[in-house]
Amino acid sequence: FMKRRKKWSHYPPGPVSLPFIGTMLYIDFRNPHLSFNQLHKKFGNVFHLQNCWSNLVVLNGYKTVKEALVHRSEDFADRPYFPVYEHLGYGNKSEGIAVARYGHVWKEQRKFTLCTLRDFGMGKKSLEERVAEEAGFLCSAINSEEGRPFDLRFLVNNAVCNVICTTVYGERFDYGDETFKKLLKLFENSLNEEAGFLPQLLNEVPILLRIPGLPQKVFQGQKAFMDFIDVLIEKHMETWNPAYIRDFTDAFLKEMEKGKAAEENGFTYNNLRLVTADLFAAGSDTTSTTLRWAILYMLLHPEVQSKVQAEIDNVIGKERSPTMKDQVSMPYTNAVIHEVQRFGDVVPVGLPHRTYRDTELQGFFIPKGTTIITNLSSVLKDETVWEKPNQFYPEHFLDANGKFVKPEAFLPFSAGRRACLGEQLARMELFIFFTTLLQKFTFVLPEDQPRPRQDGHFALINSPHPYLVQAVPR
Ligand code: HEM
Repeated sequence: FMKRRKKWSHYPPGPVSLPFIGTMLYIDFRNPHLSFNQLHKKFGNVFHLQNCWSNLVVLNGYKTVKEALVHRSEDFADRPYFPVYEHLGYGNKSEGIAVARYGHVWKEQRKFTLCTLRDFGMGKKSLEERVAEEAGFLCSAINSEEGRPFDLRFLVNNAVCNVICTTVYGERFDYGDETFKKLLKLFENSLNEEAGFLPQLLNEVPILLRIPGLPQKVFQGQKAFMDFIDVLIEKHMETWNPAYIRDFTDAFLKEMEKGKAAEENGFTYNNLRLVTADLFAAGSDTTSTTLRWAILYMLLHPEVQSKVQAEIDNVIGKERSPTMKDQVSMPYTNAVIHEVQRFGDVVPVGLPHRTYRDTELQGFFIPKGTTIITNLSSVLKDETVWEKPNQFYPEHFLDANGKFVKPEAFLPFSAGRRACLGEQLARMELFIFFTTLLQKFTFVLPEDQPRPRQDGHFALINSPHPYLVQAVPR
């Protein structure tokens, strides 16, 4: 391998590789974005790492990431292969969307998912109404806390997860529902299992997965989460009527009926479980965590909260429910939501990509099959772009006249062919939930509580440490 590497001239620089483990000791797998930031300072915008015998290249800063994902989109559109997922049912033509290899099946599945979500109202009114309705349920649940200090996490997770549930399964769960609580817990456990050194090692040395009982033990939560999804789908199939499409699952089942050609495009029962699991995995915690950062920043910056509330009162008033049409008349609120996403930095290292062919980036040669890490954090906090990269500063998104502007380096949803599929839905949720919450409540820090920490806890996504809040009705 080292001989092969020597042949590549202009391969990106990086730390010295040790036998067998490569450069794994340089990375804190519980906080990889922090390790990447240090290596970025030392080696520049494009540097290499080596996980055992796999080559990784980390891309940093707006210019580099944009060049790769936008200008050389197809070269960087593949995903690495993760042997650890096989025990969950991933295999040929059954790869879901988010970790699917770049190619025909992924394209078909992505196209179908985007279209179907759109038909059910993604970007249209019906889904917007559902989000607004869920925001109403969320406010009622917060009201019943009666101003006592509480942790927003559970209620916000429930609300956001319900949006995915109604889209995928056509039903929502009450916040106290025991089954729903179980689902959220399983989901949280399965995310935690993804982070850390051991999953990386198992991906690199998949023979270890043959140790009897090991995958089941290491990925207990993920397995339980998939079992849960199976139960939801099976329950759904009992009431399925092909003449009447109620939701995403129905639409997928209908495609499956088309036979062999559909199967070739990935419309199989196994893939239905994986695609819907992806929608949960990619679409719930990302959005609810962003909302938790939003409220945390409102506690830390009460003057920003007051300005948002003044704009809400002006444009929407105290009674009418917010709609997406209001967004254009609310530049300050819009700027605050964007700054929450920038500073909250919820998916700091994106999802791993893989080069689809030999390519070149900023004068460096990157061979086909290299795992690519897009350090989105380094884009959202790029010192060459943002005026105050390490401060919460909504003015990043306002021009001198107070008009909303979006700098190109705003890439929390990434960019290019593998960019977030749920961006439109996420934007809608962030706007409707945030404005509804601030229309109805003022969020304050309980007197006996410490000032919440601004640094995050990383488990694939970067979330706030738990904090308590008081919601004072307005
Ligand atoms: C992928 C961010 C909400 C579905 C991604 C990626 C990021 C991201 C950074 C990786 C893109 C890449 O590989 O370059 C976010 C953020 C969200 C959010 C910050 C909320 C604030 C959602 C929602 C859904 C969703 C609501 C579903 C309805 C997906 C899917 C992918 C993805 C399916 C994989 C796309 C592919 O591989 O083709 N998201 N996301 N996301 N997201 Fe989101």
